[in-house]
Amino acid sequence: MSFIELMQQRYTTKKYNPTEKISSEKIEQLKQILQLSPSSINSQPWKFIFVENQELKAQLAEVSRHNTERVLQCSHLVVFNVVNNLEFFEKQISENLPEGAVNYYKTYLKPRPEEEIKSWMKNQIYISLGVFLTACTSMEIDATPMEGIENEKYTEILGLENHFTTFAVCIGKRDVEDSNQPKFNPKRRVAMEKIITEIK
Ligand SMILES: Cc1cc2nc3c(=O)[nH]c(=O)nc-3n(C[C@H](O)[C@H](O)[C@H](O)COP(=O)(O)O)c2cc1C
Repeated sequence: MSFIELMQQRYTTKKYNPTEKISSEKIEQLKQILQLSPSSINSQPWKFIFVENQELKAQLAEVSRHNTERVLQCSHLVVFNVVNNLEFFEKQISENLPEGAVNYYKTYLKPRPEEEIKSWMKNQIYISLGVFLTACTSMEIDATPMEGIENEKYTEILGLENHFTTFAVCIGKRDVEDSNQPKFNPKRRVAMEKIITEIK
C-alpha cells in the first residue's frame, strides 16, 4: 500500500475487538520507534508506559471520560508522559546530550519562564505521537489518540514522580463494525487550498 493510501485508511478507532491482541514482536518494535522519535536538541523529555495488565487498564479506564470503553477493550494502552521537573530534565540532558545541545538549552531555553520551558517540552511529545500513529498504521495496528483523559489521575495511578501524563493512545484491532471506519464515516478535512499555500 502506498503511503498516501495508508494515510487515507488510518482513522481514530472508536471500538475494538477485545479478543485480538497485538503481538509482543510488534510491541517491541513500537517501543523502539518511540525511542527513535525526533525532538528539539534531541531533548527527549518523555516517558512512555505500555499497559497490557487488565486491572491497571480498568483503573485507568475509570478516569478516561468518554474513552472508557476503548481503554477497557483495546489490546494495549500506551501512556505518553512529559517531564515536569526541570532539575530532573537538566540532569538527564547533561548525562545524555553533547555539550553544544546542553549549551543551547542553557542559553535559549533555561532563561525563559518555567511555563514556557514546559510548553516547549510538551511540543516534543506531540511529535512522538505523530510518529507513533503513522507507525501503527504502517504496521496494521489500529489506534485512538486520547487527550480526553484525567491527566492528574493518570499521573497519580501510574505513580509518576518526575513526569506528568499528557495523553494516552489505545492500540489494538478494530471491531469490524466500528462505525468510525472511513468506509462508513468518510474523512472530513478543511479544503486543501485553505490550509496549504504553494509559493514557486
Ligand atoms: C491529540 C489528539 C487527541 C485526541 N483525543 C481524542 C479523544 O480523547 N477521544 C477520541 O475518540 N478521539 C480523540 N482524537 C481523535 C480526533 O478526533 C481525530 O484524530 C480527528 O477527528 C480526525 O479523525 P481521524 O483520526 O479519524 O482521521 C484525538 C486526536 C488527537 C490528535
